[in-house]
Amino acid sequence: EMLEKGGFDHFMLKEIYEQPRSIKDCMRGRIYPEEGKVQLGGIKEFAEKLKNIDRIIIVACGTSWHAGLVGEYLIEEYARIPVEVEYASEFRYRNPIITEKDVVIAISQSGETADTMAAIEMAKERGATIFGICNVAGASIPRLSHAGVYTHAGPEIGVASTKAFTAQVTVLTLMAFYMAQQKGTITTSKLIELLTELDNIPEKIQQTLESNNIIKEVADKIKDSTNCLFLGRGSGFPVALEGALKLKEISYIHAEGYPAAEMKHGPIALIDEEMPVVFIATQNSSYEKVISNIQEVKARKGKVIAIVTQGDTEVKKMADYCIEIPDANEAFLPLLATIPLQLLSYHIAVMRGCNVDQPRNLAKSVTVE
Ligand code: AGP
Repeated sequence: EMLEKGGFDHFMLKEIYEQPRSIKDCMRGRIYPEEGKVQLGGIKEFAEKLKNIDRIIIVACGTSWHAGLVGEYLIEEYARIPVEVEYASEFRYRNPIITEKDVVIAISQSGETADTMAAIEMAKERGATIFGICNVAGASIPRLSHAGVYTHAGPEIGVASTKAFTAQVTVLTLMAFYMAQQKGTITTSKLIELLTELDNIPEKIQQTLESNNIIKEVADKIKDSTNCLFLGRGSGFPVALEGALKLKEISYIHAEGYPAAEMKHGPIALIDEEMPVVFIATQNSSYEKVISNIQEVKARKGKVIAIVTQGDTEVKKMADYCIEIPDANEAFLPLLATIPLQLLSYHIAVMRGCNVDQPRNLAKSVTVE
């Protein structure tokens, strides 16, 4: 087993460190930065249909559902197609309106999640086209789908999903660009710019991993907390949800992810000197807004941990701890900002003596309802 862990103490840590490679594998043969072109062989027979679809419904569970939320931002932003993101378990039981004009994207690491499979079956019966995004080749979900794109992240052993999540987000990014290309909602020069940057994301993830020691120090400061809030805006919101889920799953600390602006509608009541609040506070379109949310937390003596853009000075003046990530286009923020949150949960869980790879009560894939 030590050999399988490649010298790492846990599969989860190994899988976190594999991300520069797994994202590269996921993009291989699919992006052509110099030409400004995306090729997705798995869905190319639907290339024409994509020009005229009115709506996309994404169905998934857990971490895969968080990837779906990131997908919603990207597809709406670049391909200008309305997207709804549904928990598969809710969708299958609420008689949703689905027509043969709809495309349903089902996201699943394992490809065996019972609720996601049932949601696909229902959507198929009602005539929708199903695209699967899956990590395990030949699993049930790819077989149930009309077409799909594999994430190619390699086997994920840790129960808490890490590299599969960032690979799902990568595939959704590629799909958003592909659909935009088909629909003509993006120029070739913009695609050249975005793909050139995307091509460099594995390198930036590598740089982010180098903050491991700082993250470990932060973990030590908050490891004894009983609660933790994660806040972000825009595509930083699903990142916050994913950060909170990771912490819950492996450290058993109660954590909530919230859109930062929603804080004042309830969660703000929880803030006192015992409450760590993790902010996604990178320099993008919502930077100034997030800064005022940080001030609101500091005014109530909350402990602020901020994920910031390298070289940031403003947030540093307010936050108790800052973790830097390299600057990047907003489209790629979720890929980078997720990494420190994975490491933070990992170290906290290890410090609390938890079974990181196999947390209590959880199974790697939920094949029953
Ligand atoms: C992730 O850390 C979880 N263990 C869990 O939420 C998982 O993402 C969910 O069960 C969905 O699994 P799937 O991607 O294999 O369908």
